[in-house]
Amino acid sequence: MQIYKVGGAVRDRLLGKPVTDIDWVVVGATTEEMLAKGFRPVGADFPVFLHPKSGEEYALARTERKSGRGYGGFTFHASPEVTLEEDLIRRDLTINAMAEDDQQNLTDPYHGQRDLEARLLRHVSPAFAEDPLRVLRVARFAARYAGLGFTVAPETLELMRQLGESGELEALTAERSWKEISRALMEDQPQVFIEVLRECGALKVLMPEVDALFGVPQPEAHHPEIDTGVHTLSVLEQAAKHKQPLTVRWACLLHDLGKGLTPEEEWPRHIAHEHKGLKLIKAVNERFKAPKDCQELALLVGEYHTHGHRALELKPSTLLELLQRFDVYRRPQRFEEFIAACEMDARGRKGLELRSYPQADYLRGAANAARSVAVQPLLEKGFKGPELGEAIKRERLKALKAYKEKA
Ligand code: CTP
Repeated sequence: MQIYKVGGAVRDRLLGKPVTDIDWVVVGATTEEMLAKGFRPVGADFPVFLHPKSGEEYALARTERKSGRGYGGFTFHASPEVTLEEDLIRRDLTINAMAEDDQQNLTDPYHGQRDLEARLLRHVSPAFAEDPLRVLRVARFAARYAGLGFTVAPETLELMRQLGESGELEALTAERSWKEISRALMEDQPQVFIEVLRECGALKVLMPEVDALFGVPQPEAHHPEIDTGVHTLSVLEQAAKHKQPLTVRWACLLHDLGKGLTPEEEWPRHIAHEHKGLKLIKAVNERFKAPKDCQELALLVGEYHTHGHRALELKPSTLLELLQRFDVYRRPQRFEEFIAACEMDARGRKGLELRSYPQADYLRGAANAARSVAVQPLLEKGFKGPELGEAIKRERLKALKAYKEKA
């Protein structure tokens, strides 16, 4: 049997990037031989094994044929006769279809190295279409390598468009899609992920609510970039520049969905878009089964981002309601993430990226003021049950009034 390093490890070594996990392909071996060497099978009928010591993935060279619609509609053919070239041709991108032996000799029948140099994400063969998840993968790689100058080859974009139109994207499971989406959002240029999906028509299928924001104007005085879709991409870009966590990036992507619902006669104003957007945010959250913290923050940011921007003008009672709603006493981290998302929203405006955002510190100060109210003295005064709750609220309101006067 011959063993080769394949996929991302070869690509990233050639790009001079750190290699984290290594995938291997084994040519000329049978399942029985692998088991005899101590490899552990990953799935019952999937020719992939884990190395007994390193735990890395070793796959038998295989050809893959799609036999039906959706995930699961695959048939595999793995046998010792399948060649390395046959295994590589069914892979997604030429830059992912190179193999390397233990002497670092490269096998590159589909010119991955040439495309690495040309900075092109190009599919290997029509077999690309066998897995519609690849539409999201290509967009994710575009987001990751945009800084190096990579773009999607026109013929690959065309194939992605056809996949989007075929209805295959709808068949992807929430789990597989979310894995790609969440990884893409954590790349250096997550806005490129959305741009590429939009360019090939997949955004309309996957997140029509986000797609609908393009072409929707906002008032120029607040939003020099005008277009809501362009704004959303800039907010995401800022979130990545400021190294925000996934929760914040997800909330940034969804914060303005309500603007897509505004009747054209009301443009460029978007009255109550915060509230109107909630049902759309909920729908996208659920479509991809986003983790609870992402779902929760997206909804809160959707509903309250304008409160964030107006923080300095809010009455103490409104400020208190906001802090109570966020439960800042028990969930300080979530409130920090809300503030961050608001700040990214403000910075995601053309020409205003570097403007200071005093609202952030003001909100932090308000949360501290409300938190500083001690419960013990109220207990000592004999308050309990709902009355204690009311007394704490009164004290917090007092603290916020004092805070606002001083600020
Ligand atoms: N692959 C593919 N189609 C998929 C998933 C994977 O063709 N839908 C192939 C590609 O050759 C890829 C390899 O399997 O390079 C390994 O896949 P994976 O580990 O998911 O991706 P990497 O390319 O290693 O990229 P990353 O750095 O994002 O993990």
